[in-house]
Amino acid sequence: MFSDRVRWNEKYRRKDYPEEPSAIVKNFFGLVQPTAALDIAAGSGRNALFLAGQGFTVDAVDISDEGLSLLKGRHRAVRSICADLDTFDIPIERYGLIVNILFLNRRLFPQIREGLRPGGLLIFETLLDTPGRTEHSTHGRDYFLRENELLHSFLTLRILHYHEEGDSGQEPGRRLASLVAMKDK
Ligand SMILES: C[S@@+](CC[C@H](N)C(=O)[O-])C[C@H]1O[C@@H](n2cnc3c(N)ncnc32)[C@H](O)[C@@H]1O
Repeated sequence: MFSDRVRWNEKYRRKDYPEEPSAIVKNFFGLVQPTAALDIAAGSGRNALFLAGQGFTVDAVDISDEGLSLLKGRHRAVRSICADLDTFDIPIERYGLIVNILFLNRRLFPQIREGLRPGGLLIFETLLDTPGRTEHSTHGRDYFLRENELLHSFLTLRILHYHEEGDSGQEPGRRLASLVAMKDK
């Protein structure tokens, strides 16, 4: 949605983004051979660039042209796709690896399952609802996972790792749900 682009462009202009690849991506990408990968809501591309460096060819999709501009010319194996994930469709069985980090759009859940090739790997980590949170949405959209929601949403895949961070997580008030799962061959 257009307001997402405005909001995130502003953040990327302020250089308010992490540069290190996500730990979960670094820890689990090696479960598949380098292949075609999709980075959903890639942002400034920290994970897409890391994966490209490991031999993957990566489609990096994000609504923020400012975020994607930070990727420009940094690795030829990364293709930037500026698109709204409210309407973007993931091609069926295109990818051997799909990563979705710090982004939630439930419309994409069935498409993520379908978008994986047989034997493909999903690495998904995003924010988990915190008990007592009063505000659940921005512009009517829900950005927080419920407990066990991520696990239940991908039970047709083989779950290799699932974790929900307790209150003792690294940032107070921020909890993550993390899932790694593989589609059967
Ligand atoms: C918290 S950042 C995460 C970026 C990246 N995955 C990372 O971990 O560094 C969320 C990203 O979602 C993107 N985003 C938000 N709404 C979007 C939409 N409707 N379509 C595509 N991307 C969107 C933002 O532009 C932003 O780059």
